[in-house]
Amino acid sequence: MSKKIASARIDTESSQLLKELNNSLPFDKALYKEDIEGSKAHAYMLKEQGIISTDDYYRIHSGLERVLEEIESGKFSLDGDDEDIHMAIERRLTEIVGDAGKRLHTARSRNDQVALDFRLFVLRRGEEISNLVLDLIESLIKVAEKNCSVLLPGMTHLQHAQPINFGYHMMAYASMFRRDYERFIDSKERNNLSPLGCAALAGTPHPIDRRLTAQMLGFKAPTLNCLDTVSDRDFALEILFNIATLMMHISRLSEELILWSTSEFGFIRLSDKHATGSSIMPQKKNPDIPELLRGKTGRAYGNLVSLLTVMKGLPLAYNKDTQEDKEGVFDSVKTAELSLRVLKEMIEEMEVRDEAMERACNSGHLSATDLADYLVKNGGLPFRDAYHIVGNVVNYAEELGKDISQLTPQELKSVDERIDEGACMVLDNRKSMDARDSEGGTSTKRTLEQINMLKRWLQERKAGKERA
Ligand code: ARG
Repeated sequence: MSKKIASARIDTESSQLLKELNNSLPFDKALYKEDIEGSKAHAYMLKEQGIISTDDYYRIHSGLERVLEEIESGKFSLDGDDEDIHMAIERRLTEIVGDAGKRLHTARSRNDQVALDFRLFVLRRGEEISNLVLDLIESLIKVAEKNCSVLLPGMTHLQHAQPINFGYHMMAYASMFRRDYERFIDSKERNNLSPLGCAALAGTPHPIDRRLTAQMLGFKAPTLNCLDTVSDRDFALEILFNIATLMMHISRLSEELILWSTSEFGFIRLSDKHATGSSIMPQKKNPDIPELLRGKTGRAYGNLVSLLTVMKGLPLAYNKDTQEDKEGVFDSVKTAELSLRVLKEMIEEMEVRDEAMERACNSGHLSATDLADYLVKNGGLPFRDAYHIVGNVVNYAEELGKDISQLTPQELKSVDERIDEGACMVLDNRKSMDARDSEGGTSTKRTLEQINMLKRWLQERKAGKERA
């Protein structure tokens, strides 16, 4: 019986159950491109260093190209009995080019090979996600710019607090997503180091050149320490954390979209493209899409906690436990990419019901703080005294069934002598919104300032990508 390709000591055919547990090909086949790319760079380096002959190198190189072509055309299907993507590709390569294929694994182990393939995958998909985040920010900015004069009740504790504008609210999300973008970029910067050449755990006696392969594969440099590198999955944890946080932000926005599209709020209407019906209630239009985005956040958290748990007890260096690193990452990446695309489309196509937003500002005494601030500024009262006077004004307005912004100068004065004519002016909701003109505040002027700053930031990022 021929030896198993990666088992010099085991002659017996593995049990079916072992294969089911052990084989990662069913999911790590997603790494075929990275695996072939890594092998090409490795083979080139082996040739440059005189470790394999030029002839063997050319055989390996063209053989790998053929394997790639066969995978992509479906001729070589990746659902065979091979243990993982690395073994599958090496087996097929050796069938095609013979002995040269057997030399490819010189000075390499699957431990550095999988660390390389997975890292390349994570860095690349992280970059794709970061681009989708930029696209989403762009859409949020557009909606913000259109609506930076539309009044909206700003909330704390989900209770009316102070008047803001809808554009400002959108810009709060744009700021969150900017942090997400930066997290993906920071992670890429930190993890942009090549594991290739670490071999099993301690390097290799062959005269390899790790800098050459690092450069060929687009890394900044090789990693520092091989023992760490073959068991390091921080890069995977980082993308999982970045996605979990991104999804948490997506979920918060989704929650607001769901609330706003209820008949109680009526602040937005989701396009019919993004709403579904009920099988029994003919009148229903349900916000399934933001609900799903909110729900999918759960699996993004799960994937993060799952890999953290896998890693927590591992001694150095490689342990097979880390094979459990991939499915969660694949799932989180797919979830994040789809969610970002859907959210962008939904934001762009929702109808903003500015009248409903502005109407909602007429209850909840949103401008009460403005009256207190006015009494401090114009009447020289201590803030706490002003605060209590305004409390009495609010009680009085409630008795009359009015909002504080609807009280007449006489009504105001009847509560407290110290309230003069000018007070009425500050109670107007729009004036109140525009009065919050401090840096980062909600006034239309400040909102536009934020929009312009973020637009500039966005343009710089996009121009940077084009240059790269
Ligand atoms: N399929 C394995 C994984 O994903 C590849 C590395 C196997 N290495 C080993 N020494 N058994 O982790």
